[in-house]
Amino acid sequence: MYSEKVMDHFEHPRNVGEIEGASGVGTVGNAKCGDIMRIYFDIDDNQIIQDVKFKTFGCGAAVATSSMATELVKGKSVQEALEVTNKAVMEALDGLPPVKVHCSLLAEEAIHAALWDYAQKNGIKIEGLEKPKSDIGEEEVEEEY
Ligand code: FES
Repeated sequence: MYSEKVMDHFEHPRNVGEIEGASGVGTVGNAKCGDIMRIYFDIDDNQIIQDVKFKTFGCGAAVATSSMATELVKGKSVQEALEVTNKAVMEALDGLPPVKVHCSLLAEEAIHAALWDYAQKNGIKIEGLEKPKSDIGEEEVEEEY
């Protein structure tokens, strides 16, 4: 049912954790299953993503897609990170079963929310980035945990 790459990223997820004093943090909930995901970015003065970490309460597919998504955005500019869509992540993982496609949206939405947070904090505009609909914010998440 799952590709070897999905299993690998599920069993050995990359970039799990958090970043103290992150440049941008995004927390989102999945509308379909209610699972939660948070992404932390460390972005340098040239707007390059130097480090990225994630934490999720999502399922195995969410872990694998988040792991791959963090690998794909690391070292990229904030503008390039916008192009890391859930479709690109699924392709990099050699696909996901149709019932698990919604799980891959968590990573994409959390990346967008973290980029939005970074842009807000620094007063910059990232071309093509829209205000995230589902950033549920720190407080609400603490209650949910
Ligand atoms: Fe919720 Fe996969 S079932 S993220």
